[in-house]
Amino acid sequence: MPVPSILFPADPLNPRRPDPHFAWEARILRELGGEHHLVDHDALLAGQAEEAIRRVPRGIGPLWYRGWMLPSARYAEFTAALTARGGNPLTSAPGYAAAHELPGWYSVFEGATPSSVWIPSDGSAAPGPEELAAAVARLGGSGPAIVKDYVKSRKHEWLEACYVPELADLAAVGRVVGRFVELQGEFLAGGVVLRRYEEFERAAGEAGCTDGAPDCTGGGSDGADGRAVEARVWWLDGRPIMVGPHPDDPRQQVEPDLTGVPALVRRLGCRFVTTDLASRADGSGWRVVEVGDGQVSDLPRGIDAAGLLTSLITA
Ligand SMILES: Nc1ncnc2c1ncn2[C@@H]1O[C@H](COP(=O)(O)OP(=O)(O)OP(=O)(O)O)[C@@H](O)[C@H]1O
Ligand SMILES: [Mg+2]
Repeated sequence: MPVPSILFPADPLNPRRPDPHFAWEARILRELGGEHHLVDHDALLAGQAEEAIRRVPRGIGPLWYRGWMLPSARYAEFTAALTARGGNPLTSAPGYAAAHELPGWYSVFEGATPSSVWIPSDGSAAPGPEELAAAVARLGGSGPAIVKDYVKSRKHEWLEACYVPELADLAAVGRVVGRFVELQGEFLAGGVVLRRYEEFERAAGEAGCTDGAPDCTGGGSDGADGRAVEARVWWLDGRPIMVGPHPDDPRQQVEPDLTGVPALVRRLGCRFVTTDLASRADGSGWRVVEVGDGQVSDLPRGIDAAGLLTSLITA
């Protein structure tokens, strides 16, 4: 059976080398005897998928990707171009969208993840007051919440564009959502998501933080103090192949309780995904904060990735 190769983004300054962010993964892969090829991320983003994959040999067979996030539509073009060249992307375009975008995975993880509602939007204008009021009502109408799009939050602008202290204050919801949409601009992915805020265990040193901010300054600090402690669990074919820290806090050791999660991951039906897990502050258990496509989930640099990469190339 042919062995999967891995595609990495090329260094924009030196297209024959992997992008510096992924070079260490590519090096480990080589040491393991794996094969990698390079793709042009900027061309993928520009909708020029055939151009982007011109260095991938024809008839290459099974393929994983490890690279920067792509919008689901760009990923679909990427896989179509690879298939036309004789490649066999092991994550299909629908599979990528299901793991990458919250509305794709939410129904499977409902109950294990904070309650969420969403309003589709192309980002050209923020949702109007009536749409927001209806969404707030669907979410229960009161209590704290967070705002994000189908893929990303603006957690570093917590008070301005992420955290809503009280959903019943519709004017405040409108302000935070409006600022979020403005800051995301053309990069808004899919639409606006509102999620009920849950109190998670924080990293040591945040005592006295009362506004729920992952960093207590609320002013864009990237400090780890106070942010929910999360574990990133990497899954292949429904089995956890690595449990590591979230890339925001790579030194944090976290041992999540995975009870019940494998069944959800299997039900999602995507071969290679990540789940970020946080423990509720009241000790009532672990929650799935986010699901992601494993191909575009960030891997903290320097972590022992040999097992993960071995699993991928022997999949
Ligand atoms: N429902 C919630 N309740 C409490 N805190 C939350 C909730 N959702 C998100 N957070 C906090 O905000 C942070 C960012 O949220 P999330 O992970 O969904 O966004 P992101 O921008 O996609 O982050 P990532 O860097 O993991 O891709 C989380 O790490 C967590 O600390
Ligand atoms: Mg996250």
